[in-house]
Amino acid sequence: MVKFEKQPFVNAKCKIYTTNQFNSTSCKQVVKLLSCEQQIFDKLRLPQDLLTMSDSQTVSAAVAKLYNTYPFPPEALLDEPPPGYNWRWNWLAAHNFCTGQKPQRQDIRILDAGCGTGVGTEYLVHLNPQASVVGIDLSTGALAVAKERCQRSGANRVEFHHLSLFDVEQLPGEFDLINCVGVLHHTPDPIRGIQALAKKLAPGGLMHIFVYGELGRWEIQLMQKAIALIQGDKKGDYRDGVQVGRQIFASLPENNRIVKYDKQRWSLENNKDEYFADMYVHPQEIDYNTETLFELIDASGLEFIGFSNPSFWDLERLLGKAPELVERAKELSDRQLYRLIELLDPEVTHYEFFLGRPPLIKADWSDDNALLAAIPELNPCIEGFPSQCFFNYDYQIVNLSVAEFEFMQRCDANSTVVEILAGVELGLDEVRKLLQQQLILLTPA
Ligand SMILES: C[S@@+](CC[C@H](N)C(=O)[O-])C[C@H]1O[C@@H](n2cnc3c(N)ncnc32)[C@H](O)[C@@H]1O
Repeated sequence: MVKFEKQPFVNAKCKIYTTNQFNSTSCKQVVKLLSCEQQIFDKLRLPQDLLTMSDSQTVSAAVAKLYNTYPFPPEALLDEPPPGYNWRWNWLAAHNFCTGQKPQRQDIRILDAGCGTGVGTEYLVHLNPQASVVGIDLSTGALAVAKERCQRSGANRVEFHHLSLFDVEQLPGEFDLINCVGVLHHTPDPIRGIQALAKKLAPGGLMHIFVYGELGRWEIQLMQKAIALIQGDKKGDYRDGVQVGRQIFASLPENNRIVKYDKQRWSLENNKDEYFADMYVHPQEIDYNTETLFELIDASGLEFIGFSNPSFWDLERLLGKAPELVERAKELSDRQLYRLIELLDPEVTHYEFFLGRPPLIKADWSDDNALLAAIPELNPCIEGFPSQCFFNYDYQIVNLSVAEFEFMQRCDANSTVVEILAGVELGLDEVRKLLQQQLILLTPA
């Protein structure tokens, strides 16, 4: 991902998410709700804890109806495993990113909460050959596609359940990896949702979440409101919404700001009605900024490990020409720094990040002896190796020196660092650099 959107093998879902908002004074989340039911619309303006179960059920029913009409994402079904990788769905790569070392076990349990048509689920199965995977979703239409997708590509270590993530306690046991991409922001109560999921995360487990950002979705919100106004009583008729939306786009002048933004960011995917509907006629959407995001994260009771698109959260990228400002910003807390970055780069359309349930043992490879005794292996998420020039976990091009290349070639998951270094002229700091670049994984002695 790191920007999901830059990666060829990840459906564009991750960049897409949609819609309206409601306002909750208790959690300060700004949410706008498409009022397919005016009553619910009014109630959703109340604090979260005043939402009744039936409000919640009505919203969920509206969401299920959308995805039964337009199962998402509408990616083609293949008769073979999907191409490439998304490292966030590979347990070895994700664990290494989060803890700096290879996990002890690979026979793990994975939950894909809100799996949709199973694009991510299918990757989770194929990228983790020892794992068993469970996919849950509200939409029977999306689940039917997910089942067929996995069956056709031979992803058979998976079971699907028609289940809301609010009822996830009904599943037996705990999960080592929970993936919840593009879902929480479409629920009536993301805090209750993330808490329900957190209860199912095993100690030492990781959760990968993706939710919408409000700053980069401003034009989308305007169009959502415009469509809803024209639809009037027909709100909740998603086919009508798509038709109205398409007519508006076709009629607006080419230099209109909303048109320009849609063309620049989304037009490729939005050719498909499923994407268009997901973006512009969704019955429920809550968009975040970093401040409200951390309210959600804190409520989960889990540890925030980090954003899974770290290159975005680099101030140097924005203020590199003013090193004195970068220096001054070092006084800021992490959260203040994130806020500063999004204020300066309001393109942010989503937040993607890992949470973890302690105890999460993070490796510290600063000790030379520990590093020398460790066993390195290649990150499974690289493409084009063996070559000095290849793609890293994030599909960025890497150029290795001759010595780095030789070192990596000898990483056979058996030899220790000291054994490999006996035949390669490479310093320990250069080995650490390979680690920082996520090119190798280490198993401690
Ligand atoms: C935008 S799609 C994302 C699908 C998939 N995670 C992906 O990224 O490709 C959102 C999915 O979340 C599901 N969903 C929404 N609320 C849910 C809930 N409370 N429990 C389970 N699934 C839910 C919807 O039915 C829909 O299939």
